[in-house]
Amino acid sequence: MSDYSKGLEGVVAAETEMSFIDGQKGVLEYVGIPIGELSSKSTFEETVFLLWNKRLPTKSELETFNKDLRAAYTLPQTMIDRIKALPKEAHPMHALRTLVSALALDDKDPNNIELDVLRHKSVTILGHAPTLIAYFDRHRRGLDFIKPDTSLGFAQNFLYMLNGEKPTETMARAFDICMILHADHGFNNSTFAAKVIISTLSDVYSALTGAIGSLRGPLHGGANEGVMVMLNEIGSVDEAEAYVMGKLERKDKIMGFGHRVYKAKDPRATDLQKLAKQLAEDTGNSELYAKSHRIEEIMEREVASKGIYPNVDFYSATTYHCIGLKLDLFTPMFAMSRIGGWCGHLLEQLEDNRLFRPAAKYVGPHEVAYTPIDQR
Ligand code: CMC
Repeated sequence: MSDYSKGLEGVVAAETEMSFIDGQKGVLEYVGIPIGELSSKSTFEETVFLLWNKRLPTKSELETFNKDLRAAYTLPQTMIDRIKALPKEAHPMHALRTLVSALALDDKDPNNIELDVLRHKSVTILGHAPTLIAYFDRHRRGLDFIKPDTSLGFAQNFLYMLNGEKPTETMARAFDICMILHADHGFNNSTFAAKVIISTLSDVYSALTGAIGSLRGPLHGGANEGVMVMLNEIGSVDEAEAYVMGKLERKDKIMGFGHRVYKAKDPRATDLQKLAKQLAEDTGNSELYAKSHRIEEIMEREVASKGIYPNVDFYSATTYHCIGLKLDLFTPMFAMSRIGGWCGHLLEQLEDNRLFRPAAKYVGPHEVAYTPIDQR
């Protein structure tokens, strides 16, 4: 038996060709392409094709992929009825997890995970995801649902369905970049959760439902919501110092900082910081950006020596706020993009499956006599 590693730190659990991370240097590549190349030149759709096929598409392959994905924007009536039945006060992550699980109920062959079938289901679920989130948000606001516009890309169409008006080119592109940056990230907790579930030869809905549940946690994708809560609690740039120092003294975590793998600045945070700065200037949110930047300066001074730097969630909060998204939609945005990554990992897992079943180090007693209930 190999050595015990708490939290599986440093344990290599499988092989992947999807993303490469050098945590010391702060490098992230999807199929060998640096993340900055993709965020500046690609689209979310092309990035998902890359992750699923391990190569960039030709023009006609991308057209076909876009056509299939756009066809999946439209939800079946059963799902629309289910959204309307959800309590309006539910958190959108609970709603999304429930709805992704419910997609299995409409699937005539839900347990089929043959690779071709799984690819087809992945397109459907990824195409449905923005509509599920936008419709739930409109449902809770008491607004009519906006039919998806299949002439629009994934990111643009989501903002259109959410707000009822087409976003500006700048906003749509900024949001598309966010989707690219969140699409995949090695064996993070939710991806690993999805792989663990599919390794039993369970179904795609169960695997994605588990992954969404994992992502929701504040130590994982839920951190972006936590960052916004923190920014709201800090009244002004001048208050940031006392706020952050107080938290560090109490040994509280500062959301959006630290990472199991990165001991340098997360390259996605670098990209998102540029986006956040520009969008904040464009939308009159400069004070919000200034607060974020001040927190980064204080954290750099206090904890950078321990390898704690901003992660993807830190500047995504400011970015999403400037795009006009409500705080509790931040983590669903992460999920919406990461469904692309999760599905790619499910395909990879099933191409060469072996059941995940680690061992536990038993630390309890042995040979204990059974005590009858009246003597305990
Ligand atoms: N603020 C203050 N101190 C921190 C932070 C932070 N954000 N992150 C780590 N530390 C300290 C921690 O207190 C500990 O100190 P000490 O050795 O003195 O006890 C040390 O750094 C190691 O921390 P850890 O929690 O044992 O490290 P880990 O590898 O288990 O955890 C982490 C990684 C991401 C859970 C952690 O850094 C954290 O809780 N960060 C805040 C939540 C967050 O932003 N999560 C998003 C992660 S990235 C994107 C994603 O996955 O969604």
